[in-house]
Amino acid sequence: MNDALHDTARSLVAPGKGILAADESGGTIKKRFDSIGVESTEENRRAYRDLLFSSPGADQFISGVILFDETMRQRSAEGTPFPQLLDARGIIPGIKVDKGAKPLALSEGETVTEGLDGLRERFEEYRSLGARFAKWRATYSIGDGRPSDYCLWVNAHALARYAALAQEAGLVPIVEPEVLMDGAHTIEDSATVTGRVLQAVYTELHDQRVDLAGTLLKPNMVLSGYESSQHSGPDDVAEQTLRCLYRHVPAAVPGIVFLSGGQSDEDATIHLNAMNARGPHPWQLSFSYGRALQAPALKAWRGQTENAGAAQRALDHRAKMNGAARSGQYTPEFEREAAAAG
Ligand code: 13P
Repeated sequence: MNDALHDTARSLVAPGKGILAADESGGTIKKRFDSIGVESTEENRRAYRDLLFSSPGADQFISGVILFDETMRQRSAEGTPFPQLLDARGIIPGIKVDKGAKPLALSEGETVTEGLDGLRERFEEYRSLGARFAKWRATYSIGDGRPSDYCLWVNAHALARYAALAQEAGLVPIVEPEVLMDGAHTIEDSATVTGRVLQAVYTELHDQRVDLAGTLLKPNMVLSGYESSQHSGPDDVAEQTLRCLYRHVPAAVPGIVFLSGGQSDEDATIHLNAMNARGPHPWQLSFSYGRALQAPALKAWRGQTENAGAAQRALDHRAKMNGAARSGQYTPEFEREAAAAG
């Protein structure tokens, strides 16, 4: 059983490829659709995901796609269930299984991620629907004494319980502890908090017997807060992020797939590239971007069927740029040439 998990984890971080996070929950996809003036109906959500998953370049640069429960059960215009459509293209289907970050009792301003009850049974169903990996996200904000040790440890415990259940069901768990970059904190604060978070996560994963070679880590990059007066450049981000990962992430983990977390799409590519340019590293450094892959596609689409081709070209372009960043080959010139050619 573990060999299959290891293979899946390694395939998800195959050279030149990364993950498309298309697992926006009902509330989040409504926000994204609001930004382009499109109503969030079930059919609009289906049509949008259909164009993403059938874009011509997807199989070249996308190793896996994370789906939301509703999407897992939807079909392409031709009637193919989305997990099968992806599988047929050599793209591994995955599923977001957490039920969201909820207020943490007795701790103002902090959250704990819920969704463990009944998870064993849900994993069984998701596996039968075709999912081969899963995702669970915990969030931490920085400021005013946050995150507390309490918040760190309850979330780490839940992440490890989820990861153990995923492996038991034969799915690779993506472990996503996201330190949010909202606020005015410095890059050093971000490094300290990210280090504390990762240390707690790997302690719990070890204690709960999770096989690290059958997992992936999906962390934030270490950045200065978005409202900070100090803006860190790519060298700073790469150095601080790598230092933090080298200290806290065991080499048994096959890959680290960053979230974009509200960075501009080009920044997310530039930062990943800067880290890979400093390689080789003990783990593959890749992407599992939501906004940084989808934003240009969403803008091009605007809910109009006739814009589907333009939206697909926009997605394929960003996927190709991030594919290049996987080996430190990305340059601004390449970005412009590829955009002009596309
Ligand atoms: P972003 O890349 O937009 O942060 O989304 C990734 C994700 O899956 C968040 O859970």
